[in-house]
Amino acid sequence: MFDHHDSLEDLNKHLPLKDKIVSAHRVITKKFSFVSRIAITLYDTETKVLSTYIDSSVKKKQLKHYKALLDSAPSLMEILEKGRPRVSNKLVVFDKNKKEHTKRIEREGYAASYTMPMFHNGEFIGFLFFNSYESDVFTEKVLCDLDVYGHLVSLMVINELTVMKIMGAALKTTCHITHQRDPETGSHLDRMSRYSRIIAQSLAEKYELDDEFIEYVFMFSPMHDIGKIAIPDNILLKPGPLDREERAIMDTHARKGREIIDDIILNFGFDGINNINVLRNITEFHHEAVNGSGYPEGKVCKEIPLEARIVAVADVFDALTSRRSYKEAWSNDKAFEMLKQLAGEKLDIDCVNALIKNREEVEQIQQQFKEIFYG
Ligand code: C2E
Ligand code: SIN
Ligand code: SIN
Ligand code: FE
Ligand code: FE
Repeated sequence: MFDHHDSLEDLNKHLPLKDKIVSAHRVITKKFSFVSRIAITLYDTETKVLSTYIDSSVKKKQLKHYKALLDSAPSLMEILEKGRPRVSNKLVVFDKNKKEHTKRIEREGYAASYTMPMFHNGEFIGFLFFNSYESDVFTEKVLCDLDVYGHLVSLMVINELTVMKIMGAALKTTCHITHQRDPETGSHLDRMSRYSRIIAQSLAEKYELDDEFIEYVFMFSPMHDIGKIAIPDNILLKPGPLDREERAIMDTHARKGREIIDDIILNFGFDGINNINVLRNITEFHHEAVNGSGYPEGKVCKEIPLEARIVAVADVFDALTSRRSYKEAWSNDKAFEMLKQLAGEKLDIDCVNALIKNREEVEQIQQQFKEIFYG
């Protein structure tokens, strides 16, 4: 009665998407041993950028991430325009005229490939690649089976993206509600989230950070001060220095933020999301100091999660270079000098250097996301 073993039973489990896809790939290779890779690139409609998302053949530490404009990959453009998958059964001849983008995206080391465009309700979301080191393997008969697996994988990706979309919407809405009261502007969040991303990208190699982590740091950093919603107006909006008692109340915003985030995660069931602790850590620990003088825990050095050390630098830099009810805006020179002074005391040295090293990009962000003053 129970002789048959469900070959895809891993899909029943609570596993990260990547593990499920690796597992599905293993099942596929039992039937078609020549399928040596399944990879997914996602498409961002706003920026028109394609970026690697999941690759069944890449170990986590290999960091094979890559981004390219879809426009710069004509062969993929064609698949999208036709709305149909493409079979390429011959070794792609090395063409030195091909753009680096095209070469990377086509991954010319493989002899054959089957590329499916992925759609969700008719909207293009990315590509799914089956690659092989053998040529002439993707016959019509094989493809009929691969299509089914392809759509299975595609549905898993869509499911993950939908959860992420709902999470993004929930967080954004919460953020907007908070900012009905917080005097910090939306452009503070636009800037500091991008500074956070610059720092994370710059540390990616040394700290072996993957794209998902970097993206989460960017996506979650605007939530760092969500706990300020719990701070009364007379303190939050005070146009001068806080006294000791007020300061103590102000400092509760980190813990309050964590409580609010925990509540959102519980109510929406986001606890299954890989790396969701990045969000918790950013809200709770963005005011910790590497010398232990920070709050709420007084953690030191590497006890402070990296994402919180990153966000601390981005937040302080933007606080310094912005006007606050309690201070004027500083010049970049003065703010960078201050960061150097704080490095090793309050702020993480690597994170500070990562921001300073990318001054040009920082200034572009300042240009792009200027404060808007009314009146
Ligand atoms: P915030 O204004 O977003 O500032 C974030 C962090 O940037 C501060 O965390 C602090 O580390 C740094 N920072 C901001 N301005 C200065 C500055 O002039 N000098 C230096 N060295 N660092 C600066 P912190 O101190 O934990 O403050 C957290 C939040 O508490 C602030 O967020 C702000 O909302 C509030 N706050 C802090 N000090 C005052 C104050 O004197 N008056 C008022 N009204 N609010 C304050
Ligand atoms: C990538 O995963 O780097 C792009 C897609 C492919 O190589 O097939
Ligand atoms: C904002 O509220 O300005 C952005 C929040 C987010 O993107 O999560
Ligand atoms: Fe804060
Ligand atoms: Fe802030």
